[in-house]
Amino acid sequence: MAKQLLPLPLLRHALLCFFFLLCSIIFTKTLAKSTTYNVVDFGADPTGFKDSTLAFLGAWSNACRSLRPARIQVPRGQFLLGTSTRFGGPCNSRLISITMLGTLVGPSDYRAIGESLHWLTFDEVSGVRIHGGVLDARGSSLWACKFSGQPCPIGAITLGIKNSNNVVVTGLTLINSQLFHMIINGSNNVNVHGVKIMAPGNSPNTDGIHVQFSSDVTILSPRIRTGDDCVSIGPGTRNLWVEDIACGPGHGISIGSLGWGMNEAGVNNVTVRTATFSKTMNGFRIKSWGRPSNGFVNDVHFEHALMTDVQNPIVIDQHYCPFYSGCPQMASGIRISDISYIDIHGTSATEVAVKFDCSLKHPCRRLRLEDVRLTYKNQVPQASCRNAGGTSFGTVQPGSCLYL
Ligand SMILES: *[C@@H]1O[C@H](CO)[C@@H](O)[C@H](O)[C@H]1NC(C)=O
Ligand SMILES: *[C@@H]1O[C@H](CO)[C@@H](O)[C@H](O)[C@H]1NC(C)=O
Repeated sequence: MAKQLLPLPLLRHALLCFFFLLCSIIFTKTLAKSTTYNVVDFGADPTGFKDSTLAFLGAWSNACRSLRPARIQVPRGQFLLGTSTRFGGPCNSRLISITMLGTLVGPSDYRAIGESLHWLTFDEVSGVRIHGGVLDARGSSLWACKFSGQPCPIGAITLGIKNSNNVVVTGLTLINSQLFHMIINGSNNVNVHGVKIMAPGNSPNTDGIHVQFSSDVTILSPRIRTGDDCVSIGPGTRNLWVEDIACGPGHGISIGSLGWGMNEAGVNNVTVRTATFSKTMNGFRIKSWGRPSNGFVNDVHFEHALMTDVQNPIVIDQHYCPFYSGCPQMASGIRISDISYIDIHGTSATEVAVKFDCSLKHPCRRLRLEDVRLTYKNQVPQASCRNAGGTSFGTVQPGSCLYL
């Protein structure tokens, strides 16, 4: 019998110890791995040659199933997501962070997503953070189709946040969307911070951020220049806060068009604070179709704005009827009240800098102008009012035409 080198209990101890160490290393490694998903590990191609949609969906479904907070990493490079893609919930994971260094590009043929209304959507999620990266939908071939007058698909919205809660989007860049760049629809508590949105000034319907049927949405420090509204606000928007926005070229910030339909959710409690508009079509606009409706716009605050060469710095248009069909000669049913314009100055590109064209059936109520100073070619511009009631405070130029 061979002589034991070590007494048996000690050997057992050493072995146990060794296995414990090995196990704990393996255990921690798997745990760490189980929470971070790099799309490249799921087969995503960072050269943009091969379609990476399935790889992204693979990373998403693992993150979504995870019982712990999960992280999805998109490394540097260009990733082709060539089809309409839904990142859906509900998820087990209460926090999914998506960190992007790379660019996601849309299909080169616009028809691949042009009929689906959305390119990328987050739907029915809660606790998602998207940070960094670029979304480039490559919309120019669709715009060319639209310019040519041929029949073309309406196009896809680049990024949709739908039916979701507690979503944060920071430092994301969106460019050249086929249609709106971003929509927040049917969602609560969404924070959008420091996004950049760019498309040519003549690209059709490329709104920056559209919000509807959503509450407690905050949009901070966006830089937006597109071919349509920088921020557009649709029915069912409540408690929206927009601050430190640079807008232009583009169509400005718009509530509406509202009131095409009879039963429409109202817009309530919107603040836009600290805004610069450069060469935009509008500054602050509220727009409704000249049609019966029971919608409303209430409690809106436009504060601290600098306008440079803006065609319609302050405008309410309740006679919107662009194609003269289904609306001419009708009064808008949208009731507009408690709208304030405070500390707004700069230059108007047209003679009428302030225009309140309200509904005969439901005149605007409690409009408030305070410290508004606009010029047109270094002269005092004009204000025009129809069915518009309210008050003015401090210096107001052009002089207020509101009735008390
Ligand atoms: C917004 O959400 C509603 C309800 O889910 C849906 O009917 C509508 O199509 C959505 N609109 C867009 C543009 O996603
Ligand atoms: C209006 O919305 C803001 C957030 O945008 C919120 O802080 C405030 O409490 C809301 N006011 C009312 C009266 O609900």
